[in-house]
Amino acid sequence: MSKLKKLRKVLVIHGPNLNMLGKREPAIYGKTTLNEINKKLKNAGKNLEITIDTFQSNHEGEIVEKIQDAMGKCQGLIINPAAYTHTSIAIRDALLLLNIPIIEIHLSNIYKRESFRNKSMIADIATAQISGFGILGYSMALEAIVTMIST
Ligand code: DQA
Repeated sequence: MSKLKKLRKVLVIHGPNLNMLGKREPAIYGKTTLNEINKKLKNAGKNLEITIDTFQSNHEGEIVEKIQDAMGKCQGLIINPAAYTHTSIAIRDALLLLNIPIIEIHLSNIYKRESFRNKSMIADIATAQISGFGILGYSMALEAIVTMIST
């Protein structure tokens, strides 16, 4: 990497139960594991000269703290808050601390499922949302966020 090029870091946050990907309702979420998704993202990041930091938690407060910790350290955030998408004002409030592009992502199309999944607490404060593309959505989100932080 050239010395003049700024270091860029994108944080990817995975919410509750996403650590069970591969085993969890594969008809909806696919057979790819979270490790495989993270590896793909990190490899893609290397080619783009971007550091990818990944984080998964089943605990709302830990996700809030990770978002707080990203202040001033990351240039972009990709987040699948999983079930907290539909309930968490705390995660929404934490995201409002960040002044960087935020992409909300879901493996499944949350608008095609049960009505309680149709509402996202963060859709109106995220820069963009990707929903229903399965694991391809993560590559799409990375490509989009890299474009956003490079322009
Ligand atoms: C999800 C959709 C949520 O409704 C669900 O609770 C998840 C995963 C998705 O990626 O499709 O855990 O965010």
